[in-house]
Amino acid sequence: MQGIFLDDSGVKPFINEEDYEKMCKKVEKAHDMLEKKNGKGKDMLGWMDLPANRDEEEIARIKAAAERINKQADVFVVVGIGGSYLGAKAIIDIFDNTFANLESYAERKHPQIIFAGNNLSGKYLRNLVEFLEDKEFAVNVISKSGSTLEPAVTFRTLKLLLEQKYGEVMAAQRIYVTTDPEKGILHDLAVKNEYEMFKIPRDVGGRYSVLTAVGLLPMAVANINFEDILDGAQFASFVFNNRDINNNDCYRYALYRNMLRENEKDIEILASYEPSFQYFVEWYKQLFGESEGKDGKGIYPSGVNLTTDLHSMGQLIQDGKRNIFETVLNIQVDRSLIYLPEVDDDFDHLNYLAGKEIDYINKQAFEGTRQAHIDGGVPTMVLTLEDVTEYNIGQLIYFFEKACAISGYVLGVNPFDQPGVEAYKKNMLGLLKNEE
Ligand code: PA5
Repeated sequence: MQGIFLDDSGVKPFINEEDYEKMCKKVEKAHDMLEKKNGKGKDMLGWMDLPANRDEEEIARIKAAAERINKQADVFVVVGIGGSYLGAKAIIDIFDNTFANLESYAERKHPQIIFAGNNLSGKYLRNLVEFLEDKEFAVNVISKSGSTLEPAVTFRTLKLLLEQKYGEVMAAQRIYVTTDPEKGILHDLAVKNEYEMFKIPRDVGGRYSVLTAVGLLPMAVANINFEDILDGAQFASFVFNNRDINNNDCYRYALYRNMLRENEKDIEILASYEPSFQYFVEWYKQLFGESEGKDGKGIYPSGVNLTTDLHSMGQLIQDGKRNIFETVLNIQVDRSLIYLPEVDDDFDHLNYLAGKEIDYINKQAFEGTRQAHIDGGVPTMVLTLEDVTEYNIGQLIYFFEKACAISGYVLGVNPFDQPGVEAYKKNMLGLLKNEE
């Protein structure tokens, strides 16, 4: 069953019917390009079939590796950057207890999970090494190219630490590599040292790779039922493939984004009222930022964590330059069952809310803010996720991946490359190598 729905009533006042019909044609064309696999980046469409074409042998190895990691490690370190960590972190944050890493193993029922190799901070790495020194740990290094500097610096350091702690042979049992199936420094090292290796298919780009071993192994270690996530994504791959745009929420989302962009609204804010979705917003930012931001074009993808950011960004959204639109992630069913208590002296004058669910209060904040933003000139779409289940999260992932591909084709760019990322790397490596 479809578990996510788009409410476009907050966009309608900002668009006109004629433009809508014109944009429908562009979205249909983008759909045809994806179906016929004849658009830009046509060799990188493997993500579309990941949920249906599962590699059962690898899935079995992922489950076995996760069990082994659960036995051998108190701490599981996921080393990767960009598409090689954001999706896994997003999903683990959604399903884990908010304070999972502070809980005992008995409560958490899986190793502590730490994400590293996503920066070049000396403080971060020093603190990580000191933290790991007296812990039983295992490492999953994830890099499609196998040579990205940030994870490489961290992996070299942790590999040495593992070897000093356990000896080379036993350390090799604690290193799990997710990389290109055929080549690269990491691939060759894994073959040489007999590390357990998982693949990132050649036709799947980093930011579209969460449903490969890149995301599935960390999810399995966190006891997340990733097969339900794949099932949800598979369902979404059918339901969001409907060429009839009026019956395809994913395509309407892509359509409105582009209509708004053409109306000078070229900043999108993805807003969530649930802190555990903060990294989902980060994942979305990377997906759209790297996919659309090129050739002097693109919508700037940004995010807010509400209601927290109403006290920092709320003023700008309500009242600043009118070049933004908002997409709100609305979680319909909340299972936290926590209510505001009644107190005798009503010291804070909140007894009028006593007995109400905290989620009810959150929802009123959402409704009030949504209307205020629309009134303030911010077109607002609402994407409702009926319930936070693995199946629905799978749908949500595929929804955004497909919307991003369609949106990129409508924009006229290749949504599957990232040539701009090379510029900083070239300068940085130039500086580092000249220093020798
Ligand atoms: O989407 C992408 O391709 C990038 O964001 C990559 O995921 C990121 O640069 C990391 O690359 P790699 O996995 O090769 O280390």
